[in-house]
Amino acid sequence: MKILSIANQKGGVGKTTTAVNLSSCLAALGKKTLLIDLDPQGNGTTGLGGDKKKPGIYEALVGNKNNLIQKTKIPFLNLLSGSQNLAGAEVELLQMNKREYRLKEYILKNFKDYEYIIIDCPPSLGMLTINALTASDAVLMPLQCEYYALEGLSYLLNTIKRIKNKFNPKLVMEGVILTMYDRRNALSSLVEKDVRDNLSDLVFKTVIPRNVKIAEAPSHGMSVLFYDIKSTGAQAYMAVTSEFLQREKKRVLNDN
Ligand SMILES: Nc1ncnc2c1ncn2[C@@H]1O[C@H](COP(=O)(O)OP(=O)(O)OP(=O)(O)O)[C@@H](O)[C@H]1O
Ligand SMILES: [Mg+2]
Repeated sequence: MKILSIANQKGGVGKTTTAVNLSSCLAALGKKTLLIDLDPQGNGTTGLGGDKKKPGIYEALVGNKNNLIQKTKIPFLNLLSGSQNLAGAEVELLQMNKREYRLKEYILKNFKDYEYIIIDCPPSLGMLTINALTASDAVLMPLQCEYYALEGLSYLLNTIKRIKNKFNPKLVMEGVILTMYDRRNALSSLVEKDVRDNLSDLVFKTVIPRNVKIAEAPSHGMSVLFYDIKSTGAQAYMAVTSEFLQREKKRVLNDN
């Protein structure tokens, strides 16, 4: 089982879009996948046609409840939903025993038979994100192709280092995915060059273009792959997914 957090403390950079579409593509390839929506906004839940009113990850973390999984329309893809009361969990967790490890322990106890668990993090580095990073094997960071893209990156990298030292020595940076790339806009290619110069191999070769089908799909409760498989958005997320799987394979080979 591999647990992957999709994180960036900056808002609106494509975390949820990447979490929903990467998990859908993995499931479409026959990998048993669970998406955990750790954001009080619950966008990942609605984006997969889930129900934010049903008990979900909040009840898991704070109430230790079981049987909270929702099925999605996609075979092999399940959902542990997010909801507004997660905002309260940031504070409630602070008073709990082993507060950084709540998510990790819940996952290890309840979800043994998934190949991938993808965690959609909120745009902050509070207790929820700390729980996600403590539970994860790796972090994937979507970066929007805009002027301030690199700002905040060092902050996230420092947080990862701190979590690694204190709570989770095995945590690695899986990579950075450039999102909302606009070919007609010279800024996109400038930002791309800047990011690649700074982070080299950490950056995925595949970039996600700005694509209207990607933006429309959530309002239909679907990932773009199922909303419009022929769209450039769907093709890009499929390409990112195969690059992700290849990079993983390469890392395993290098480690042995
Ligand atoms: N490649 C894309 N093309 C067009 N629109 C996109 C693309 N990626 C994301 N969007 C849109 O941009 C907005 C922000 O994306 P998303 O919700 O994935 O970001 P986020 O990082 O999860 O935001 P938050 O920090 O609020 O959780 C959404 O409306 C989404 O539909
Ligand atoms: Mg989000």
